[in-house]
Amino acid sequence: MRIAVLAESDKAESRVAATPETVKKFTGLGAEVAVQSGAGAGAGFIDPDYAAAGAKIGPDAATTLAGADIALRVRRPAARELAGAKPGLALICIMDPFGNEAALANLARVGVTAFAMEFMPRITRAQSMDVLSSQANLAGYRAVIEAAAEYSRSFPMMMTAAGTVPAAKVFIMGVGVAGLQAIATARRLGAIVTATDVRPATKEQVESLGAKFLAVENEEFQQAQTAGGYAKEMSKEYQAAQAELTASHIAKQDIIITTALIPGRPAPRLISTDMVRSMRHGSVIVDLATERGGNCELTKPGETVVEKGVKIVGVLNLAGRMAPTASSLYAKNLLAFVETLVSKETKQLAIDWDDELVKATALTRDGVVVDERFKQA
Ligand code: NAI
Repeated sequence: MRIAVLAESDKAESRVAATPETVKKFTGLGAEVAVQSGAGAGAGFIDPDYAAAGAKIGPDAATTLAGADIALRVRRPAARELAGAKPGLALICIMDPFGNEAALANLARVGVTAFAMEFMPRITRAQSMDVLSSQANLAGYRAVIEAAAEYSRSFPMMMTAAGTVPAAKVFIMGVGVAGLQAIATARRLGAIVTATDVRPATKEQVESLGAKFLAVENEEFQQAQTAGGYAKEMSKEYQAAQAELTASHIAKQDIIITTALIPGRPAPRLISTDMVRSMRHGSVIVDLATERGGNCELTKPGETVVEKGVKIVGVLNLAGRMAPTASSLYAKNLLAFVETLVSKETKQLAIDWDDELVKATALTRDGVVVDERFKQA
């Protein structure tokens, strides 16, 4: 069995899909591993580290892919980048398939079996394969660090001989994996933290981290969590009540970190332009939902917008700003999944199509898109 670790084609992506540590584990499974030259450079892993771990270094994608049964990436490659791949190549990465149906159809056409790591079911057995959690946790931490860097005042309260410096007030909107880590990080830095979400389960989680919970806790709120643990899109009425409740609170905050997402939908709009204008000069908003349209009306992807002295940071790929750590965790997520795809006896790729992890993540197979959601009209 051969495993190819491909370099990312998006230059802005600094993470890598395997580390010398996971390469060693793959060779222990009986696999031959080829790593495309320079693949780990953005994450601090250099070719000689991979070679020392037992990998062959491929000068380009085609050489690295030659004869491979499995290809690992962070982001979905275009089908043309997989030219010459073996039919049935198992491509494992973050597929980002919503709105990218044509790219997926092209992958199917070249005979690739594409697995979307972000669709890994959130069950106990698959916890070690949960890329959304491993990356969102780091993004939540990093969002607070970015906010602290943009904020020109102190996070903790400081009592000095020259006077008292007040603690920063931090509001976290959306308390999933990223939001919880953001609360914990902001608390550790000494901020006064409040948080909001639409899922009732988050109330206790917020309070257990020492932050105050704020939400419209009506009947719709009680029903807002899907069986999968995600949030539903809320009604117009709920959104209006939520905006009314949060507006006066937002006006008093120094930092807001937004992380609210709804699977397969645009990010909910939680901060209007008027709300931004109500904040005092020097306040900071870090929008973790930027890639899905943003939680703030003024967010611009990859830019910091300043509106009446308030900075709105439209961050992209925050986990990528911690590429060595993010890659280490991502690579371990992939290793854990690959282990389920390989036969212990024959040490060959042996996909069990009845396995719920495979069913949930496989998007293409035998030349066609198999996930109903992404079949083109
Ligand atoms: P996510 O990234 O999809 O969304 C982030 C947060 O935004 C969620 O907490 C969501 O409720 C919130 N949100 C959505 N619309 C909102 C609105 N209008 N206003 C305010 N907040 C809004 O969520 P994530 O981080 O992927 O977590 C989703 C669920 O999965 C959680 O219940 C989490 O505990 C669970 N989970 C389970 C795991 C497991 O069992 N293995 C592992 C990781 C997470």
